[in-house]
Amino acid sequence: MILERSSSISASELQQRLAALNEEHKADLSDDDIITFVDLMQVYEGAMREISTKLEVLDTEFQVQFSHNPIHHMERRLKSANSLIGKLERKNLPINVESVRNHIFDVAGIRVICNYRDDVYSVSRYLSDQSDIQLLQVKDYIRNPKQNGYRSLHIIYAVPVFLTSGPHYTPVEVQFRTIAMDYWASLEHQLRYKSDLPDNRLAEHSQTLLDCARSLQNIEVQMQSIHRDISGSPQEQES
Ligand code: GTP
Ligand code: MG
Repeated sequence: MILERSSSISASELQQRLAALNEEHKADLSDDDIITFVDLMQVYEGAMREISTKLEVLDTEFQVQFSHNPIHHMERRLKSANSLIGKLERKNLPINVESVRNHIFDVAGIRVICNYRDDVYSVSRYLSDQSDIQLLQVKDYIRNPKQNGYRSLHIIYAVPVFLTSGPHYTPVEVQFRTIAMDYWASLEHQLRYKSDLPDNRLAEHSQTLLDCARSLQNIEVQMQSIHRDISGSPQEQES
């Protein structure tokens, strides 16, 4: 199951935002530049669909071979015009297609929510091993959790999107995590954007969340162990 977290590419929203930036003198984009921008978003959308399809194929194969679906569900989204432009501004980059191509690797994003930790590593490994895609970056916050307790495996792939002009290798950020990691990250994200809380309550909640992250990790280990014992799925070796 794939949940769409953004409506498919909104060319008019992007056009309006870019035209407004021209008026505010924050950008100097010609009509052609704006069209190139919109075309680029379409390429990202294509790349996102290609990776999602590869993941669906792997999930189905697991079901057929091992009677187990490693993927609980997926979510995917293209960065909205507002957050794309906001990120370029935060990074002090000029607002143009080159900045996006060279510096923003999460325009297309897929979140793969797996049932167990073994599933995270097997699905990501089978995808990473495919010969037509490249691995640009791996950040393993499962083996090395962030200080706040955040866990997920982030991989940036480059996937060839074939246009009339030939293949265009396009980055897609894939976040692999378990249901428990996703459950935790959703609440932590909510807390982070709850800016009207007094500092002491924020600190208290952050500490509780860190404790929850550890508890969830322990529960996952126990449930994974039961699942390994009763299922025929391949087991991922800890490296
Ligand atoms: P960018 O320049 O934004 O790409 O920063 P980065 O590359 O340092 O970010 P990273 O790859 O570590 O994380 C990117 C995404 O992971 C975020 O947009 C979130 O979706 C998710 N993420 C990372 N850290 C956290 C966290 O502490 N809590 C939650 N809830 N989500 C996180
Ligand atoms: Mg990033």
